[in-house]
Amino acid sequence: MNKLWGSRFEEPTDALIESLNNSLVFDSRLWRQDIAGSIAHATMLGATGILSADESAQLVGGLQLLREEIEAEILVLPPDAEDVHTAVEGLLKERLGAVAGKLHTARSRNDQIATDIRLYLREECDALEGELTAFQSMLLTLAEREMETILPGCTHLQHAQPVVLAHHLLAYFWMLDRDRERLADTRKRVNRLPLGAGALAGTGFPINRHQVAELLGFEGVLENSLDSVADRDFLIEFLAFASILAMHLSRLAEEIILWNTPEFGYILLDDAVTTGSSIMPQKKNPDVAELVRGKTGRVYGDLIALLTLMKGLPLTYNKDLQEDKEPVFDAVDTLHLVLPALQKTLATAQFRRERMLAAARGDYSTATDLADYLARRGLPFREAHEVVGRVVRYCIEQGITLEDLDAPTLATFHALLGVNTESALEVLTLNYSVSARKSFGGTAPEAVRVQWENAKARLGR
Ligand code: ARG
Repeated sequence: MNKLWGSRFEEPTDALIESLNNSLVFDSRLWRQDIAGSIAHATMLGATGILSADESAQLVGGLQLLREEIEAEILVLPPDAEDVHTAVEGLLKERLGAVAGKLHTARSRNDQIATDIRLYLREECDALEGELTAFQSMLLTLAEREMETILPGCTHLQHAQPVVLAHHLLAYFWMLDRDRERLADTRKRVNRLPLGAGALAGTGFPINRHQVAELLGFEGVLENSLDSVADRDFLIEFLAFASILAMHLSRLAEEIILWNTPEFGYILLDDAVTTGSSIMPQKKNPDVAELVRGKTGRVYGDLIALLTLMKGLPLTYNKDLQEDKEPVFDAVDTLHLVLPALQKTLATAQFRRERMLAAARGDYSTATDLADYLARRGLPFREAHEVVGRVVRYCIEQGITLEDLDAPTLATFHALLGVNTESALEVLTLNYSVSARKSFGGTAPEAVRVQWENAKARLGR
């Protein structure tokens, strides 16, 4: 395939250098965006009189036909083209002849590629927003079902205070909700038009960038031509969003892995999302969750790759920028895999409520409730903490749980525990402990129901 820049050169490009320089192997996935950008550009060239109405119509018609034929796989992008722009223009030339050469008036591949990747990412932002919403909606469904399920809440992976499972699941809902906010915010800055910057300095043709922006659905036009072709901060922002989301999913995956062990036994994963071992017949492994956790590393890598790519580039365009695409494609592809896969894993898991409850029983996790009981009756919390510490130590020495204490024994630890000891004993139960935490954002089912309604409203339901 002919190069777009061959005439200045006497010698052909070295074959090795050709393959280093080639970007079609990965940027071919931008062909739809490339054609869309060209259709808008050709339309504008006609509207401004830079090209005649007839030339503009020929270009637009030719590009539309190309789009249909590539879509229908009647045509393929020529594999020997240098990049997606060369490939599309080459096909157009075969179809239209010389007039195809007018498409590149007042345009450069530098502003063209920046436009293509923005159009691509805008679509992916919308697709990911849908996947995130679906994930959150699954969490809402599970939370509604598990409003009364008690399990140990942990700090340091040690039993801390009992919580309800709905509360635990909704914690992830809110993490993903902030991810969705970050995504929406990133999309605003992705959705600005660089086309019309030319190679770097703008153009002497009387173009209308605002018309192109409108045709392509961009919310604004980038103000500075140098900035338009040189910066990729919007890709970095996207990868930062992707990394944070991957981190959240990885934490959830880690919990799924832990909860699915015989030691925890809180959940049983479905056959459809687990795999076996080639040597150990009894095995059922949580591979999906492990891969979600494992793939987080490559998404972080994508972010670091792009940050590093950009840090030393003098203005404006440098060929280094061709390396911006693969990390973005990789992160997008990875998220499209892990989001639905983890969603399915959790949606199909069996929650073993009796195991969660059993784990929370006898774990001394209602000790704070007894200290709060004393504090409510006027004892400074620090003293209450000391009293209850002695109660816990006594129980451990006796090999009993807090729930096993009887009224006469409990009464010996403090005068305040001597009056109305039955109500002191009651605060040591799991149900009391959970129900007491009615503060906004707390784990009491009453408060979690409010939280659940607010979560639902976030999804516009
Ligand atoms: N393929 C390039 C990229 O992805 C765009 C072409 C710009 N090439 C050039 N020689 N200025 O960034």
